[in-house]
Amino acid sequence: MKKVLIVYYSLGGNTEKALEFIKKGIEEENVEVIVKKGTEGNLEDLLNCDGIIIGSPDYFSYMAGGLKDFFDRTYYPSRGKVEGKPYFAFITHGGGGKAIDSIEKIAGSFKFKKVMEPILIKNAPSKEDGEKLKEAGKKFARIIKG
Ligand SMILES: Cc1cc2nc3c(=O)[nH]c(=O)nc-3n(C[C@H](O)[C@H](O)[C@H](O)COP(=O)(O)O)c2cc1C
Repeated sequence: MKKVLIVYYSLGGNTEKALEFIKKGIEEENVEVIVKKGTEGNLEDLLNCDGIIIGSPDYFSYMAGGLKDFFDRTYYPSRGKVEGKPYFAFITHGGGGKAIDSIEKIAGSFKFKKVMEPILIKNAPSKEDGEKLKEAGKKFARIIKG
């Protein structure tokens, strides 16, 4: 069974709510989902997944520190082992949304392969946002399945 890692951070719950929709969409395509907070995820999670979804709130126009922690810890040990891994990113924000740039940049450093455009949600996901996120999960899962 193919496996997707969703690595994220969330203090207020908005980003966590958003990822639940994505997760549902992926599971409907019979792809396994591993969800890890950035502070809890590790190298094995990154190496063992077939694709990675990166989720963060926008904190001070940057990704959450708790998410960056994951990338700081896994960068050197994963070098040469994760190039080309499919990914897409999503954020929740309060009206800005610049944090997405920091995520795309870090994904570029890891040489992940961007297979879908990022999704930006303002604060908590609405019903329509939920549909959009779920569809994105399905689409990503289908890409992973090939
Ligand atoms: C410390 C802090 C800094 C924030 N900075 C920004 C910001 O620079 N730009 C923005 O659009 N929203 C900003 N926000 C709003 C959050 O991005 C937004 O409410 C987000 O949905 C919170 O996600 P969470 O509930 O998963 O923590 C900030 C919120 C916090 C708590």
